[in-house]
Amino acid sequence: MVKIAPSFLAANFVVLEREIRAVEAAGADYIHLDVMDGHFVPNITFGPMVVEAIRKATALTLDVHLMISEPGKYLRAFADSGADICTIHVEVNADLHALLREIRRTGMRAGATVKPATPVEALYPLLPSLDLALVMSVEPGFGGQAFMPESLEKVRELRAEVERQGVNAEIEIDGGIGLENAGHAVAAGADVLVAGSSAFRDGKVVENLAALRRAGLTGLGQ
Ligand code: DX5
Ligand code: ZN
Repeated sequence: MVKIAPSFLAANFVVLEREIRAVEAAGADYIHLDVMDGHFVPNITFGPMVVEAIRKATALTLDVHLMISEPGKYLRAFADSGADICTIHVEVNADLHALLREIRRTGMRAGATVKPATPVEALYPLLPSLDLALVMSVEPGFGGQAFMPESLEKVRELRAEVERQGVNAEIEIDGGIGLENAGHAVAAGADVLVAGSSAFRDGKVVENLAALRRAGLTGLGQ
């Protein structure tokens, strides 16, 4: 069963509660929240205050993707804000094992991710400490970018490595996911599809998520 995680980067923040109800009605599995600091990536989004506001409005799993240079400084704040999953980038200059330990110590599920230019092997030594392993299929920073097809090979290799190690980490893919590639992503081994623009397109969240789920389940592109 494929999971769908709508990315609120594409939501209308003026009517955030309505967007939350829409993804709930659409049967979303997670709400994907993209935190950007204007340093690790060129864009700035929001921090724990907004995550906390969303937490108060929904029981859905909050999947927080930290695109920030110093995640260690903020893990406690995100845990307190009610984040369920906290994903850090392997490209940050820090002790990744220590960060992942800290994420779990605060009660969150631990995730790690690689930018398109980073080999997927960078995730392998972390897998025993991961609940979620994320493959970025666009350059992090902005929604609405074109899917990078070479990321499918990374998902395939990661799936094989997860099986080899016998670990439970879910595999998530993020960036440019739509009807044309959802099936390929699932066939390659993705458990969770993040979808920003394709989830919120034309305000038809229920229809969009149903179509994405169908496309994911057929295991084919359209
Ligand atoms: C990009 C973010 C993604 C983004 C996906 O840096 O990590 O989660 O919101 O948006 P789409 O689906 O439009 O590529
Ligand atoms: Zn993301």
